[in-house]
Amino acid sequence: MTDHDTVLVTGATGLVGGGILMRMLRANPRLRAFVLVRDEIGWHAASHRLGNLAERIVPVRGDMTVVGLGLEDGARRRLAEEVTMIVHAAADTSFSRPLDQARLANTQGTRELLSLSRICGGLRRFAYVSTAFVAGRHRGLIREMDNGPAEGWVNSYEQSKYEAEALVRASAADWVIFRPSTIVCRGVEGSIPQINAVHRALRVYYRGLAAMMPGGREDLLDLVTADYVNDAIARVTLDPRASRRTLHLCAGSAALPLGELVDTAYELWARDPMWRKRGIEKAVLTDLATYTLFANAVIETGDARLGAVLSSLSHFIPQLALSKQFDTTVADRLVGCAAPEVRTYWSAMLAHLLAGNWGVVSERAA
Ligand SMILES: NC(=O)c1ccc[n+]([C@@H]2O[C@H](COP(=O)([O-])OP(=O)(O)OC[C@H]3O[C@@H](n4cnc5c(N)ncnc54)[C@H](OP(=O)(O)O)[C@@H]3O)[C@@H](O)[C@H]2O)c1
Repeated sequence: MTDHDTVLVTGATGLVGGGILMRMLRANPRLRAFVLVRDEIGWHAASHRLGNLAERIVPVRGDMTVVGLGLEDGARRRLAEEVTMIVHAAADTSFSRPLDQARLANTQGTRELLSLSRICGGLRRFAYVSTAFVAGRHRGLIREMDNGPAEGWVNSYEQSKYEAEALVRASAADWVIFRPSTIVCRGVEGSIPQINAVHRALRVYYRGLAAMMPGGREDLLDLVTADYVNDAIARVTLDPRASRRTLHLCAGSAALPLGELVDTAYELWARDPMWRKRGIEKAVLTDLATYTLFANAVIETGDARLGAVLSSLSHFIPQLALSKQFDTTVADRLVGCAAPEVRTYWSAMLAHLLAGNWGVVSERAA
């Protein structure tokens, strides 16, 4: 970074954008930042977490789903004159949106941001936070240079992010694309900053609400920590070696097989005599077709509440049976280390999930 760098961060109220912003500002005391925020009250709350660092940040009101990002002319001019790098981490991260809605925020929003990048005269790099699951229904080894699954996607989020990647690659800007897998905890201590689909699926099995789970014992489920992802992006964004590279911010060869992830969870739950008393059987791992028949039968004919739960999981759970090993060669080299092994924090994460009752309190408050 130079003395004159000014970064524009989108998604700064979120887990990833906020974490990257904090790390970049800490690493470079002369760095200044703009954040694109759609809700100034939300930003006010988020900026409290940044302490004194917030003094170097200027919030700019904008929305990815609006033409021209909804920027006022003065704000657009100022960004064009001052911004030297863009870290685009904002996204609609819901898996269940209709495709047109997911595209509006994730694909069209990225198009709008790329169009802003074109008028930033001093821009040095456009960093796009994508997802490893742009690989969609593809199984097996996924290399960082791979992009484009002939098999399609599990949900509209994956597809809209894939389409956004294509726009970034086609742009004239110097870009880098980061593809994290699924963040399940803050760091190896296992605390959980944000409840996501993996946690929600675990709650279904903890409560004994589903007898089956798609996937085989040896199928890999790639998970990462927020600390690893945010450190990596903050560190690599301006690395000259990262120019026009795509990085898998994933556990890769340190991902764990589903059998081990599931066994560890049930072993932990079974330590509680009250849970044991409920006589909940371990879910049977089965192929995707059998699981889908089971889930559809429940959705169509069973308990409405359980049907709604399984229906919402259906946008994510097929990935369990689509085993992938993400190659992390480029990321390991540029970040300078591999992601922590999932085995080192999976039990701690499960313990936090249980102790915090799946974030039910904070989710309700939110
Ligand atoms: N968390 C993961 O496990 C994970 C894994 C792989 C990839 N990623 C990627 O990492 C990035 C950040 O994810 P996250 O987990 O930090 O998500 P998050 O906590 O849900 O935050 C999403 C951020 O995007 C902003 N945003 C959403 N829609 C917007 C819009 N229309 N205009 C402007 N801002 C908008 C949100 O702002 P508001 O405060 O206004 O809602 C928020 O700051 C995303 O691109 C996601 O695809 C995340």
